[in-house]
This record gives sequence, structure tokens and C-alpha cells, in this order.
Amino acid sequence: MGAGIIGIGRYLPEKVLTNFDLEKMMDTSDEWIRTRTGIEERRIAPDNIDTSDMAYFSAKKALEDAGISATDIDLILVATVTPDRPFPSVACMLQERLGATKAAALDISAACAGFIYGMVTAKQFIDNGAYRYILVVGVEKLSKIVNWNDRNTAVLFGDGAGAVVMGPVSEGRGILSFELGADGTGGKHLYQDEYVIMNGREVFKFAVRQMGESCINVLEKAGLSKQDVDFLIPHQANIRIVEAARQRLELPEEKMSTTVRKYGNTSAASIPISIVEELEAGKIKDDDLIIMVGFGGGLTWGAIALRWGR
Ligand SMILES: CC(C)(COP(=O)(O)OP(=O)(O)OC[C@H]1O[C@@H](n2cnc3c(N)ncnc32)[C@H](O)[C@@H]1OP(=O)(O)O)[C@@H](O)C(=O)NCCC(=O)NCCS
Repeated sequence: MGAGIIGIGRYLPEKVLTNFDLEKMMDTSDEWIRTRTGIEERRIAPDNIDTSDMAYFSAKKALEDAGISATDIDLILVATVTPDRPFPSVACMLQERLGATKAAALDISAACAGFIYGMVTAKQFIDNGAYRYILVVGVEKLSKIVNWNDRNTAVLFGDGAGAVVMGPVSEGRGILSFELGADGTGGKHLYQDEYVIMNGREVFKFAVRQMGESCINVLEKAGLSKQDVDFLIPHQANIRIVEAARQRLELPEEKMSTTVRKYGNTSAASIPISIVEELEAGKIKDDDLIIMVGFGGGLTWGAIALRWGR
């Protein structure tokens, strides 16, 4: 048996904030944002919807998709850097709201790589038989930590959530290999003080290098090559960064997710949000080899090679 995704769901706030809306709020332009980042619009959650609410909406859908009930869940992992409050964790709030009475619960702080960290952690418990069903959620309400007076960062981020139920899947499917990494010396390039502070150029250089390398590393670990890849789901930070990863894998454009255009950078939520988008578009099918790769503040990074299907 392998450890894989057996159910998935997402939540995106209804409110769309376009580049043209931002032009009215700060000294920026649709042209600059689109050419430098690929982003056209992003979603912004209203005041009465916090991170745990978005986590709940996405988790409900993932449970329904998996065909299990909340009381079947053994562990809840929530990847987020924008919890409702420092504690209790979003995972504990979610546990209560779902009624997941037997589940242990904790948040994971690995910024935009958090969802990959969560999936890899879940895999260990499923592989060693300790737990059967693990809910992994990537969720962010970045709009509450973005400085809306700083055009360098405000145009990049959006809100949203994605959740997966992980559990045992057939032999040959699920996570085939993974890589996780961290480099605390780069923490100074992307962090939260009161608001998000970022050295865009340094993060850009790191991201381009690390995404490409991690993709190649997980393929090697799985005994596979670039030609075997069916679809690439990179963390959606910037179109130029994900393009560099696609070129490193020599993949055609239609084999990579570019949801950054519609949703901006949703940090830990971007990978599960993108998986749902591509499933709905019919671009991911059973037995496809999917590469997921993320990077973020910490600095952190991670990648997974996964054979899709239950
Ligand atoms: C932020 C980023 C898009 C900037 O793109 P860039 O091509 O490197 O742009 P530069 O940093 O060279 O800035 C060019 C100019 O645009 C200006 N600029 C910055 N943001 C702007 C905006 N929203 N609108 C208009 N101009 C802007 C800068 O002030 C700078 O002006 P100056 O040359 O007069 O100082 C890019 O560095 C990036 O994507 N970095 C990675 C960010 C990221 O992914 N973070 C999340 C990680 S999970």
C-alpha cells in the first residue's frame, strides 16, 4: 500500500480584487503586475471569514470527496502562517467544528512550503500504520498581514484554502518520493514583522534555483525521469518563477498549473487549490505522475512525486 490523496476540496472567497482595483488603491498598474508576476486578480476574504472558517469549508468538501466522516480522521495538520490567533491552533478549531473527536491536531509553520511539509508528515504516519486517515489543510488569509500601503508586496497575495484527506492507496500510487529542506540563513529575505516584509529579488533567485533542483531530486529518488512527468503543480508565487521550473523539466505549457493568474499567491493553500482547478479541468487523471513543489519563508522548500489515484 502507498499513502496518497483520497479526497480533496477547496474554498475561495467570492470577492475578486483585480489589478485595476489595486491601481485605485496604490501607485501601481495592471501592466506592471501582469508582466512582472502574471497575476491578474486575487480573492480577498471578508472580515467575518477568518482562516479557520476557510479551512473548515475546504475540509468539509475533502471529507465528502473521500467518502469518510469526521470521526474517521486520526490527525489534522493545518499548514498556515495566518492562524486566527497564536493558539489554540487552527487545527484544534477545525477539529471542534468538524466534530473530528478522535483526531490529534496541530498547525505546521513552513510558510508557502507548508502544504508539502504537511503531506510528507502525513505519509510517515500512514506508512508506519499508526494512523489511517489524515486531513491536511493549506490555508491563508494573507490579506490580514499584508501592508496595503506597500506596493512591493500588496499586489502579490490572496486568500484561500485547500484540503486533502490522505490515506492508504493501491500499490504504486500515492507519494513515490519527497524532499524537504530549510535554510534559516535566508529567513531575513521573507518574514512577518507586523506585516509581510520581502526582499523580492533574493526570494526570486532562491525560488528559481530551488524549485528546479527539488523537481529533479524527487524524480531521481523515484527512479523516474523528466519524460515521465504528466503534470507539474508548483507553488503559485509568480508566473516567471513557475515558468523556470517548467523549463527545467522541459514540459509543455499545458502540463503546468498557472492558477497564480486568478488567485495570486495564496501561500500554503496554492498547491491544493491548484490541484482542484486541474482536476475540474480534466487535466489530472488516474495514474498520472504529478510533481508538486513549493518554497517559501524560512526559507523552506519541498517537493513530492505522486502517482495520482486511490
Ligand atoms: C516582487 C517581484 C515581482 C519584483 O519584480 P522585479 O522584476 O524583480 O522588480 P524589481 O524588484 O526589479 O523592481 C522594479 C521596480 O518596480 C517597482 N515596483 C515594485 N512593485 C511595484 C508595483 N506593484 N507596481 C509598480 N511598480 C512596482 C520597484 O519599486 C522598482 O522600482 P525602482 O527600480 O524605481 O526601484 C519579484 O522580485 C518576485 O516575484 N520575487 C519573488 C517574490 C515571491 O515569490 N514571494 C513569495 C515567496 S513564497
